Amino acid sequence: MIGNTIIRLNSVDSTNSYLSQLVKKKELKEGVVVFAQEQLAGRGQLNNVWESEQGKNILISVLLFPHFLKAENQFLLSKIISLGILDFLSACLKDVKIKWPNDIYVGEKKIAGVLIENTIRGSAISNSIAGIGLNVNQTLFSASLPNPTSLKLETLDTFDLNEVLEKLCAKLEARYKQSLVEGEIIAEEYIARLYRYKTRHLYRDNKGEFYATITNIDKYGRLCLLDEKNNMRKYAFKEVEFI
Ligand code: BTN
Repeated sequence: MIGNTIIRLNSVDSTNSYLSQLVKKKELKEGVVVFAQEQLAGRGQLNNVWESEQGKNILISVLLFPHFLKAENQFLLSKIISLGILDFLSACLKDVKIKWPNDIYVGEKKIAGVLIENTIRGSAISNSIAGIGLNVNQTLFSASLPNPTSLKLETLDTFDLNEVLEKLCAKLEARYKQSLVEGEIIAEEYIARLYRYKTRHLYRDNKGEFYATITNIDKYGRLCLLDEKNNMRKYAFKEVEFI
């Protein structure tokens, strides 16, 4: 069960790095969560740094053993984790969407980020560490972040982090279990909750800017964009930018 065991840390370099070291040294049960008050070297996607004020937010890493999944289907984990966060947030916020591949947005602002690190053995996933940074009670962010928000900024309420963690873990667990029997439904819901789904917007790839519409995410997790000349363009993460 996700969150049955919680390792609480005051300060750590990165909860993902900590858990990946620990799982090499110790036998851990699936669902172990590392929860830190502060990260000194929090990691984001694309080698970005994840900033978070001490004691204000959810900074967790969840250990999973998704042996039912082939390595080529690992994008399902992004869908499970994104939908779990979305389920939790949708209980108190409107207009929560998933910005492909797994940023969580409220309107045009980012409230959570996900960094999933899988250990692959042959064609199987031996373990997966799902790192989640969810902005909860922080209201001031560094000016270098383009468009951050938090639960407090959106609702004006202050949240108990332990309660948030408990509810979030329950939602993650429910989606993880659902994926065992209803992978197709997970895939459909993920697409239906995508930021900019089926609407025309501007993108940039290595050849320049273009208008296109998100029509699908394929099973490898590639973004399928239909451009204005009716060409279907498929992009892996890092190959295209939202403008
Ligand atoms: C992103 O949006 O770039 C992903 C951010 C992921 C941040 C979380 S915070 C907990 C976990 N530990 C890390 O070092 N990163 C993830």
